[in-house]
Amino acid sequence: MVEIKTDAALETMRESGRVTARALAAVREAARPGVSLRDLDEIAHAVIRDAGAKPAFLDYHPGFAPTPYPGVICASVNDAIVHGIPTDYRLRDGDLLSVDCGAYLDGWASDSAISFTIGEADAEDQRLLDTTREALNAGIAAAVVGARIGDIAHAIGRVARTAGYGIPDGFGGHGIGRRMHEAPDVPNEGRPGRGYPLKHGLVLAIEPMLLAGGRDDYHPAADGWTLRTNDGSRAAHFEHTVAITNEGPRILTLP
Ligand code: MF3
Ligand code: CO
Repeated sequence: MVEIKTDAALETMRESGRVTARALAAVREAARPGVSLRDLDEIAHAVIRDAGAKPAFLDYHPGFAPTPYPGVICASVNDAIVHGIPTDYRLRDGDLLSVDCGAYLDGWASDSAISFTIGEADAEDQRLLDTTREALNAGIAAAVVGARIGDIAHAIGRVARTAGYGIPDGFGGHGIGRRMHEAPDVPNEGRPGRGYPLKHGLVLAIEPMLLAGGRDDYHPAADGWTLRTNDGSRAAHFEHTVAITNEGPRILTLP
């Protein structure tokens, strides 16, 4: 069932999104060679705790996962696409890091992700990062009253495929509200004019993940959580929680 949010709920989700955005900004600020993924997890945890919010990912146990999630962030390095566990791995110059984070504030969830390189990006990584951000922006621009989920999916997929990148199927965006994952699903590729119609008060997490090698296939790592590209190519992931409103798409996960 799709839950339409009241305007008061959208205000609270905006505050939740602000907390998540601040946690991601703190992680990005701290990420440099020698810093471990676990260090970054602690930084995000402190920001969320100090805001009076709760980490949305910690202990989350969806059907596809073998164990409750052990972190506050997902930290996915290089060929890891999403759901990388924050381990003792220390970042190195040139790593491509995707960080995903979520929070609950007053019972309302937010979910957002950024990707960046440690040190300067080479041309290939830069193109992957720019294209994945562009795919997110295209998806957000399509999130308007009167359009459908398929219009968002199509907008994302077109940017990705035009650039020659792969799109992992089976993972994508989702409705979000009192729970982090709600109906409807928001695929990263699809046909315009199809799917659930977008209305004022619908809130979606839109999250393209693009694979540099151009293939769509991936596999879970031994930890059961981390998803890696099958060809070893790098992946990028950007995500915002977005409210559909009569005034246009409202990004809730900005600082
Ligand atoms: N943005 C990610 C998603 O919607 C958040 C995953 S949280 C985790 O899949 F706990 F499942 F890792
Ligand atoms: Co999400």
